[in-house]
Amino acid sequence: MHTSAPAPQGPPPYQAVGKHAVMPQTRHDEAARFNFLANMNQYLSAEFLPRVKRAYDKRALPRFQAQHGRAPEHRSEVRELMSEEPAYQTWSAMRRATMEQRQQAGRSVVLRQLDRLNDIARSAAAEPGLELTPGFKPPRYLTGVDHHCMPGGYVGELAADDVSAPANYDVGIFATTGGALGRYSDGGGTAVAEWLKREHPDFKPKRILDLGCGLGHNTLPLAQAFPEAQVVALDAAAPMLRYGHARARSLGVRNVRFVQADAEAVPEPDASFDLITTCMFLHETSYTAIRRVFAETRRLLAAGGISLHVEQPQYQNMDVYEQFVRDWDAYNNNEPFWTTMHDMDLTQLAVDAGFQREHTFETGVRAVVDAAVFPQAAALAKRQEDYGRAAAWYVFGARA
Ligand SMILES: C[S@@+](CC[C@H](N)C(=O)[O-])C[C@H]1O[C@@H](n2cnc3c(N)ncnc32)[C@H](O)[C@@H]1O
Repeated sequence: MHTSAPAPQGPPPYQAVGKHAVMPQTRHDEAARFNFLANMNQYLSAEFLPRVKRAYDKRALPRFQAQHGRAPEHRSEVRELMSEEPAYQTWSAMRRATMEQRQQAGRSVVLRQLDRLNDIARSAAAEPGLELTPGFKPPRYLTGVDHHCMPGGYVGELAADDVSAPANYDVGIFATTGGALGRYSDGGGTAVAEWLKREHPDFKPKRILDLGCGLGHNTLPLAQAFPEAQVVALDAAAPMLRYGHARARSLGVRNVRFVQADAEAVPEPDASFDLITTCMFLHETSYTAIRRVFAETRRLLAAGGISLHVEQPQYQNMDVYEQFVRDWDAYNNNEPFWTTMHDMDLTQLAVDAGFQREHTFETGVRAVVDAAVFPQAAALAKRQEDYGRAAAWYVFGARA
């Protein structure tokens, strides 16, 4: 008889998601849609994915071993093998479908109130802290790709002063993470801030740079953890910055400037930041861009400063089946640089950018959730297994 760990409880209700002035409002049926998707995603990751693994262990792997006299040595062999397994086919199709449904549900919520949301962001833009560059051209890898099925990607605009992309991102992320990133979807930034306070208690950054800040989910915890610091939240996408700025002001965070620029060429002087972070950003760039970003990080970091890159784990030294599961996004979720980035040697990249090898380090953080409103997610966070492959993050760092 098969025995497994007790099933985790379902995600918290959508009503627990943190609200702010520019957050799209949801009606009963819209919230119900997100609740369904959050539960379906949790079911897919916590209940269905272990069955996919059993299909691999019990059927696919023995079949491969009988044929080749060895186990698969590369994730591409696992992918080929599993593409014939009904359990994997079903899991993959459903996962893709829930992502498309999330985008559709989020877009329909946002589009019916877009004028109001754009007005809120426009009013906030009259206050300090938003620095857009008219005529700015985002890098090519951000245009023409609907990243994780998001229509128009991060840079798409439907109207003047548009915030539809980040509003959709913010309202829908709960459906994908099921609350495992906290009520404000800021569990990664909170975890990084906690790690810094624990590991470097005397570190008091005066200037912080967050590259590819998006709508600032993981920037604000740093700004709140270091309220004396000036924080530059940099992104190429004007909609993300407009929304992020309005959101930050609504949440009472004032020490952040939201700046439109290319992380490959940051308009700031050498050695002008004590802390430089990225969160789920490197995988959205390109082979050339990532090298430039590392070089910029080295140039911008002051002596004694710390740079931290938060991503899903790298593939080196990872079991080939786990690599195959994690590489799903590259093939099915519009993430064109995902595979290449996760195969890269980040230590070598940092050394090539001018960091000392002995000043690089790796660690991990687990997204921090608000136990008061997300008790189930907090319980999940204590478990070793990261079913959704979303809450246990890898951190690559380098000190100047
Ligand atoms: C997956 S989002 C991550 C957002 C945020 N860091 C977070 O943790 O929620 C990646 C962000 O990187 C931005 N980005 C990608 N390439 C960039 C570049 N070269 N310069 C500035 N921003 C960039 C995108 O516009 C997008 O907002």
